[in-house]
Amino acid sequence: MTWLVTGGAGYIGAHVVAALVAAGEPVVALDDLSTGDPARLPAAVPLVVADAGDPVLLRATLERHRVTGVMHLAGSKSVPESVRRPIWYHQQNVGLVAALLAAMVDTGVRRLVFSSSAAVYGVPGTATVAEDAPARPVNPYGQTKLVAEDLVAAAGRAHDLSWIALRYFNAVGAGAPHLGDRGATNLLPLTFAAQETGVPLTIAGTALPTADGTGVRDYVHVADLAEAHRLAARHLTRGHRAAVYNAGAGRGHSVLDVVRAVAAVTGAPVPVRSGPPRPGDPPEVVAAIDRIRADLRWRPRYTLLDAVTSAWQARTATLTAAGGRGQHG
Ligand code: UD1
Repeated sequence: MTWLVTGGAGYIGAHVVAALVAAGEPVVALDDLSTGDPARLPAAVPLVVADAGDPVLLRATLERHRVTGVMHLAGSKSVPESVRRPIWYHQQNVGLVAALLAAMVDTGVRRLVFSSSAAVYGVPGTATVAEDAPARPVNPYGQTKLVAEDLVAAAGRAHDLSWIALRYFNAVGAGAPHLGDRGATNLLPLTFAAQETGVPLTIAGTALPTADGTGVRDYVHVADLAEAHRLAARHLTRGHRAAVYNAGAGRGHSVLDVVRAVAAVTGAPVPVRSGPPRPGDPPEVVAAIDRIRADLRWRPRYTLLDAVTSAWQARTATLTAAGGRGQHG
């Protein structure tokens, strides 16, 4: 098996590449480097710098590297941006999948692991959400992931593809110091940034219907998430056909839990201020992970504190590498 990992130089993609390489699987990465960084990849992994929607390059890459399975992580993931740019989000998160599926069908590549999102659930009505819960996304980002899942399923039926969609919950942490999340839109990087700049973190809602009034999410260590991809690959090579799995830690933590964990790990207070809930933000989203545990034999190994510790180590390494030029991103 040779796996093509689209978005392979990105935050999650590079962890997936590392997990596959550690398991001895041949890997090719494809990334347009819009947010990815080639320095995240091991030297032995070929990197194709291309748009994952480029049909000519996709076909050529699948053929040249004798690819037998694809992990498709390339895409865009900012909820607020998806509200501002819904058409572009559909182009990125659905259009690329259509182009990829066409190239796979043309070249006889029959296995796909697709990176989906808990955003497909919208506002779950239960404490934990299982895969068979109604999918009612509340923002264009979640809509694009749901449409793409449906497209993958339909293509699977029509063209004899086997596939697994992994619905990521909130990926955090770093498997190694050079693999950290350098984005600035998710809670954990924003919390570190608040410490570094002194500009308070805005807690988006402090009177929500949750235990401490702040938003609750399922923070899953990115190395655990990467391992789920490796096990999904194995599942497909063993002949399994089509499945959707939640990929979360199966435990909820509030914004205040995250703030406290950052303060504990860094030994410094986090400046915070209360703000209104973000539009379309569900109060609580936590994964039920019985299905992925049973089918893939996947067990999340890391705690929130492990994830925050590794994220902090990665961030410190990045700031040191920036050489005191005042860079915090
Ligand atoms: C959302 C998607 C998730 C997706 C992720 C990608 C939903 C339900 N989830 O995660 O599937 O993978 O985007 O980026 O749509 N918060 C604050 N202050 C801030 C920022 C965030 O209090 O300045 C809170 C949020 O209200 C939330 C938590 O922190 O409770 C996590 O937010 P964030 O990191 O933005 O991720 P989600 O919106 O949960």
